[in-house]
Amino acid sequence: MGRRERNISRRSVLGAAGVGATGFAAGWLARPADVGCLPGEDLGVLYHRASSPGFTDVLGVLADWGTRPARTKEYPGAVRSALPPVSAPSDLSVARAIERRRSLRDYASRPLTTPELSWLLHAAAGITGPGGARTAPSAGAQYPIETYVVANRVDGIEPGLYHYAPADHVLELLRGGTFGGDLVAAALGQEFLGQAPVVLVLSAVFQRLRWRYRERAYRYALLEAGHIGENVYLAAESAGLGACAVGAFSDDAVNRLLEVDGVEEAALILLPVGPR
Ligand SMILES: Cc1cc2nc3c(=O)[nH]c(=O)nc-3n(C[C@H](O)[C@H](O)[C@H](O)COP(=O)(O)O)c2cc1C
Repeated sequence: MGRRERNISRRSVLGAAGVGATGFAAGWLARPADVGCLPGEDLGVLYHRASSPGFTDVLGVLADWGTRPARTKEYPGAVRSALPPVSAPSDLSVARAIERRRSLRDYASRPLTTPELSWLLHAAAGITGPGGARTAPSAGAQYPIETYVVANRVDGIEPGLYHYAPADHVLELLRGGTFGGDLVAAALGQEFLGQAPVVLVLSAVFQRLRWRYRERAYRYALLEAGHIGENVYLAAESAGLGACAVGAFSDDAVNRLLEVDGVEEAALILLPVGPR
């Protein structure tokens, strides 16, 4: 039996199928008509075509597409937990990490340590240069991606939902509690989300890109989450951990968990990480 099969029980698959089918049907019924699509196109193709660079980019120099928001999200009043200083856990070469990386859905039972979490968050969104330059590239250095942490089992950190504040390399507590089960339900029964000691949740604040790139903003947001995701995969590999990108989830459910509206800011990807 494969790892994935072991992690997804028959009940959860049936449940997921039911939820998925209902969601799909509801989504389909509620879906806007493919207005403007050519035969054989879907909304993705239409969006891709409509966001090609062109006239709007030239206009971009002059046009006003809204104000430029702050580059980081703040939670004044949130209890902050300092993370240990960043230290690379091994001297595994990038070449080896790229070679060895695999999506991991079956985690050893030990909790994550705070130095490991510190390393993962640094790889995701850590500040490494002047002007707030980060570990992952960002279109126009606008840094639209926010990183949240669902901590299920981390030594020295109470279970809860946290926001990572890169400027101070701290966790901000948003809500205490165990949210692994909420993620499993949101992700159509993918049980390994409840077993991982931590799940990083990446969201995008779209206006950070839109004020400058308008239609292309959405493309860039997804690309940037992808860059960060691979950083997390390689950082995990170098620490003897493993990660798994999870894109199949109910947007509404995860956005509700993060208390974001899904319009100005929306969850893009879940990254459970745990020991091998
Ligand atoms: C955008 C994206 C979404 C993904 N969504 C899921 C998911 O919802 N559930 C899952 O188990 N794996 C998911 N994966 C992981 C892929 O299944 C995995 O990368 C693929 O099978 C190749 O295996 P490897 O990463 O071990 O090389 C996703 C990967 C990407 C890049």
